[in-house]
Amino acid sequence: MNQEDAVTYIAAPGGVLQGNIRVPGDKSISHRAIMLGALADGVTEVEGFLEGEDSLATLRAFQAMGVSIERPGPGRVIIHGVGLHGLRAPEQPIYLGNSGTSMRLLSGILAAQPFDTVLEGDASLMQRPMKRVTVPLGQMGARIDTARAGTPPLKIHGGRTLQGIQYEMPVASAQVKSALLLAGLYAGGETCVTEPAPTRDHTERMLESFAWPVQRRDGRICVQGGACLRATRLRVPADISSAAFFMVGAALVPGSEILLEEVGVNPTRTGVINILRLMGADIQLLHERLAGGEPVADIRVRGGELRGIRIPEADVPLAIDEFPAVFIAAACARGTTVLTGAEELRVKESDRIQVMADGLRALGIDARPTTDGMVIEGGAFRGGEVDSHGDHRIAMAFTTAALRASGEIRILDCANVATSFPGFDALARRAGIGLRVDPAHA
Ligand code: S3P
Repeated sequence: MNQEDAVTYIAAPGGVLQGNIRVPGDKSISHRAIMLGALADGVTEVEGFLEGEDSLATLRAFQAMGVSIERPGPGRVIIHGVGLHGLRAPEQPIYLGNSGTSMRLLSGILAAQPFDTVLEGDASLMQRPMKRVTVPLGQMGARIDTARAGTPPLKIHGGRTLQGIQYEMPVASAQVKSALLLAGLYAGGETCVTEPAPTRDHTERMLESFAWPVQRRDGRICVQGGACLRATRLRVPADISSAAFFMVGAALVPGSEILLEEVGVNPTRTGVINILRLMGADIQLLHERLAGGEPVADIRVRGGELRGIRIPEADVPLAIDEFPAVFIAAACARGTTVLTGAEELRVKESDRIQVMADGLRALGIDARPTTDGMVIEGGAFRGGEVDSHGDHRIAMAFTTAALRASGEIRILDCANVATSFPGFDALARRAGIGLRVDPAHA
């Protein structure tokens, strides 16, 4: 990160959360809207698109491959689809910033193109494991080179003919599943992916919205190559992963009451609600409805006392991005919270087990990292300084910790909050967190 990008958050202790809040659009759905809209026949109109750096990286990647994309107003995107075979070779390597979703899903699409591409990212993305997609794509006939450690850059060779495979995923990963299904659109025959546990199914739902048939039974998802995507209109719900910080913040402060509007509550994403409810949080889903193939609801959260729990492993893939926030709830709960079966957290935007444990301990909490999770004794936060290691969700999680801290919390390296949650600091202040942003501190 450049010196001029350095951003420190300074969160004042105390406060309650109140009011109606609409967090920005869902990141996973925003990526997929651009990808399928670009590959569709016709014009796709999107509302509620996340204007965060990650989904914008996907948008710019398709612009670099000749897709015309208009942005007529906040959250509005108009994509002039070029059809499955209409992409053009980009003039240079495609830079995807911090976005693992962009890189893994794009590799599935690009493996089937007639031209070569190179995918790169920032320092964090350049260390993330890519073999999980390049190996099964290779079995389909793709040729993708990685660095020796199986990390980016990805050099994707064009002009390959892909054949459908039957793939049993060793890790529960929606990104791997999606990369293979997207490659499967171009492959001969049928491509089937079996998941060891349910993961977010936005790709499957959105393929259906674009009129591409998807077979799903008992954890096995299949697509047949050779059809076409029909352009559509999409409304992206608010991102439950962004809402999670306010859910936790409200849940852990007695007297708080917030209403999070139009949040995506797809059952493959609601692990955080299940976990917080098990901890005793008062969370209600209101006006549940279906919008553009995705379940949405308004979520009301009232503050109270939380208790420590053993987190059910079945909820881990359903809450995979929410553990930084869940760890803050556990630190404020009465008793011990135990997380197991979550080794995937070690290969996210940062090693979220180590980085969160370090931050919790710096603030006076007894947190013991394990290979696949963490043991947290509920206690009291004191003020102090933590390093987010450029991980957006860690920066936002420690911001909410200030609500229950006895002193100011300073959080380093917060510029990447813009990857998923542009405007977080203003919304946090409006809701009741005393947050200042200091761009002058490294
Ligand atoms: C995502 C899937 C998840 C999640 C990531 C977004 C997606 O990753 O952590 O933030 O949009 O498919 P994995 O599928 O690798 O667990």
